[in-house]
Amino acid sequence: MSIKVRPLSYALGAAVTGVDLTKPLDAATRAEIQQAWLAHSVIVFPDQELLPERQIAFGKLFGELDDHKAVPFYRHPEHDEIYLITNRKIGGKESQTKDTGRLWHSDHSFTTHPTTATMLYCCEIPPVGGNTMFANMYLAYETLSPGLRKVLDKLEAVHSLEHYTSSNPFFRQRDPDQIAKMHKLSPPVAQPVVRTHPETGRKALYISEGQTSHFVGMSREESRGLLQYLFDHSVKPEFTYRHAWSVNDLLMWDNRCTMHLALADYSHEHPRHMHRLTVLGAPCGRLLNAEELAAA
Ligand code: OGA
Ligand code: MN
Repeated sequence: MSIKVRPLSYALGAAVTGVDLTKPLDAATRAEIQQAWLAHSVIVFPDQELLPERQIAFGKLFGELDDHKAVPFYRHPEHDEIYLITNRKIGGKESQTKDTGRLWHSDHSFTTHPTTATMLYCCEIPPVGGNTMFANMYLAYETLSPGLRKVLDKLEAVHSLEHYTSSNPFFRQRDPDQIAKMHKLSPPVAQPVVRTHPETGRKALYISEGQTSHFVGMSREESRGLLQYLFDHSVKPEFTYRHAWSVNDLLMWDNRCTMHLALADYSHEHPRHMHRLTVLGAPCGRLLNAEELAAA
């Protein structure tokens, strides 16, 4: 089978058609998909009627699935591999994931085993909005001056869930006990500021407004100016793609070279319901030592 790949924007994103994900894939098709994914960093498969079992089987073709240890809530009732991003009530209660992803981030960069691929499947979407934005972090890196790239190449930065939850106003409405539990499961980590993609060999910036608090070995105050510059630079419109979802879209993005943002551009009066599956990859980053932890 030969898939069709149609770019969706200059920076990143492509639509992949000519493949039916409800059926097992042969090795050649899987390889074509992998190639399209590495080339475009975010790919969308429109019109796929995917039961959770099929989404799981497809995910497994790309590596070991994440057990979501870092965020041990909001599972699909029958499939632990599927995490629910929804504004529908869960067990009669307000959903805690209805405002997931409202700051730019790369999935699970606050752990030393961050997600390689996220596969998000759209079950329900409001009549307007509920868009997701993506930024190409290769371009963000490559468009910096050689002088700044050289400085950044040697730096590490602290990523933490604590930073994410405290800088995100939506977390104020969330269950504090769950948040405390999640903080305990994921202490702050050090990540390289520039990450070399293991498959493409290209360098990408690996910092995000949502999850990065400061450079390792520097104070927050000292870090602020440069980090803010990098955050703003990374999400210039020309480095982004904005996805307007349709029901039955499966999106697959590469967290090693992109960031994303779930826009609050819709009303919670309308359901938005997504099935999210994450694929682990090679570990990246390290835990902070005692001195760094005290300074974090
Ligand atoms: C995610 C995420 C964005 C969205 O699944 O990791 O950030 O638009 N979701 O739901
Ligand atoms: Mn995310």
